Amino acid sequence: MCGIVGYLGDRQAFDILIKGLHRLEYRGYDSAGVALVNDDGNLNVYKTKGKVKNLEEYCKDKNISGTVGIAHTRWATHGEPNDKNAHPHYSQSKNLAIIHNGIIENYLSLKTFLINKGYEFKSETDTEVVVQLIEYVMQEQKCDLYKAVHQALSQVVGAYAIGVVERNNPNLLIAARKASPLIVGVGENEYFLASDASPIIEYTNKVIYLNDEEVVKIERNQEIEIRNLKSVKLQPTIKELSLNLDDIEKGGFDHFMLKEIFEQPKSLALCMNGRLNKELNEIKLSAITDYYEKFEKCKRIVITACGTSWHAGLIGKYLFESLCRIPVEVEVASEFRYRNPVILPDDILIAISQSGETADTLAAMELAKKQGAFVFGICNVVGSSVARMTDTGVYTHAGPEIGVASTKAFTTQVAVLVMTALAVAKKLNTITEEDYHRIVKELSVIETKIEEILKQVDTIKDISKIFTYAKNFIYLGRGFNYPVAMEGALKLKEISYIHAEGYPAAEMKHGPIALIDEEMPIVVVAPHYAMYQKILSNVQEVKARKGRIIAIVSQGDEDIKKNADYTIEIPSTEECLSPLLTVIPLQLLSYYIAVAKGRDVDQPRNLAKSVTVE
Ligand code: F6R
Repeated sequence: MCGIVGYLGDRQAFDILIKGLHRLEYRGYDSAGVALVNDDGNLNVYKTKGKVKNLEEYCKDKNISGTVGIAHTRWATHGEPNDKNAHPHYSQSKNLAIIHNGIIENYLSLKTFLINKGYEFKSETDTEVVVQLIEYVMQEQKCDLYKAVHQALSQVVGAYAIGVVERNNPNLLIAARKASPLIVGVGENEYFLASDASPIIEYTNKVIYLNDEEVVKIERNQEIEIRNLKSVKLQPTIKELSLNLDDIEKGGFDHFMLKEIFEQPKSLALCMNGRLNKELNEIKLSAITDYYEKFEKCKRIVITACGTSWHAGLIGKYLFESLCRIPVEVEVASEFRYRNPVILPDDILIAISQSGETADTLAAMELAKKQGAFVFGICNVVGSSVARMTDTGVYTHAGPEIGVASTKAFTTQVAVLVMTALAVAKKLNTITEEDYHRIVKELSVIETKIEEILKQVDTIKDISKIFTYAKNFIYLGRGFNYPVAMEGALKLKEISYIHAEGYPAAEMKHGPIALIDEEMPIVVVAPHYAMYQKILSNVQEVKARKGRIIAIVSQGDEDIKKNADYTIEIPSTEECLSPLLTVIPLQLLSYYIAVAKGRDVDQPRNLAKSVTVE
């Protein structure tokens, strides 16, 4: 939710900043802007509505010199997406400029205070309040920018990752964070600032992950200095990134989403690497080996997450209940955090998040932690807030997911849930040796089965073209594949803007069946497992009402073929692993429908990759 970049070094900053914005554009693309301090001491701010390419166009005839600068790509919260609400924002005197990712909750009271002091505001944003407040503190207390940022942020309630530059000071860049991600890249005589590592990796693999309420002073030819809001000096910890440039490029695919769909065999292999022993047919998760007694003692598991990660969590419920016989509740984090939930002393909270920065998920974790739950995290982004807040956790190792619609993050989350449930079930003796080894063996070859499904891409593409007319879709599934139906519906609506609903198949007759006519496409996820006959009846109910059926079926299934208009086959596997296969055609279906409708697949309207605000 908003991407921020900064640079201070020997090179001209503009190109580095723009490239960085392109890499962070998945975080928001309502407007973009840049601020540069040049050697003459000028502080130039250029900003415009729309995507980063609009900003580049806008800057063509501008003075873009300067070796220090900050830049921003916005996902609007306070104030509509337009030029004036775009970041960076100047302070009153235009001596300072700020970029910000997050939300300032007490911005109205601070704004009133500043208006009473004679400050005028040019935008409707909460961000402008921060830069004005910093300037006010500088003037009142006659202090430098670094000190003023500390003082001002002490009065701010909310979440922020900020970068600030100062006119007449081409040697200084100040940044700070609380509850919004911010990384400092440390190069040779140069420093970088970014919301994630993607704008930095091209230049250096040495980074510092800032912690909450830390303010960093980046000065030319100086070691960086970090202090907390109480002005206590802290020792920076430099970490090495393991990211490759290839991981964040499209690699010949038309969209990141397509690349990421096709990457799933690889990302699952990486996810299981060192955890699934193919020779011994065993799972070893170091993150839980010391914590089995928590699972032995717990009376229930609570899983919390948002969006696609929540759908993975719903599959987690089926996994832990069927394999470990532990009761599981799954709740969207935004509800969990505000409803004063009952948290029992031995509860385990599993938080799932691709980005590790989703505000609602973090708040739910904090709440559960405060009330004594053991917090287990599943997340993709190394060093993210989720990773840092958990008692223990497992990285999904899916690699950077840049397409806004989540794909490989989902399958790796499910894989981690499967591995965790299997490991716990073995320890708790709730699974037979035979079942355990059979499922692990199946999991070890799941990548090859995904590859088989991906080979059907042309068939899926052809089916997609037929359904671009649709205004609505229904997705049906049962058991492990009910959350997959919901995930398929979410994928379709977010990138094609077609309304879609995912339902447990048998629920259809309690309402949604009224929607079915000859226009309505129904995607039925119906692999051949225990509930197969039941879902076959549901298919017949749809057919009787002339709905158009696209069925995801097990290889060789002839029965559903008789009723379905189109079928896509998946190889056989264990039922508890089937979501890893059934979701693949649904991802491709939504992708190709969106492409056929001319949608901006990687950057769908109104969305952003990580939702770091409420
Ligand atoms: C859907 C999608 C979102 C995210 C949700 C949670 O394709 O990407 O629904 O799944 O915003 O994000 P994370 O997993 O980063 O917490």
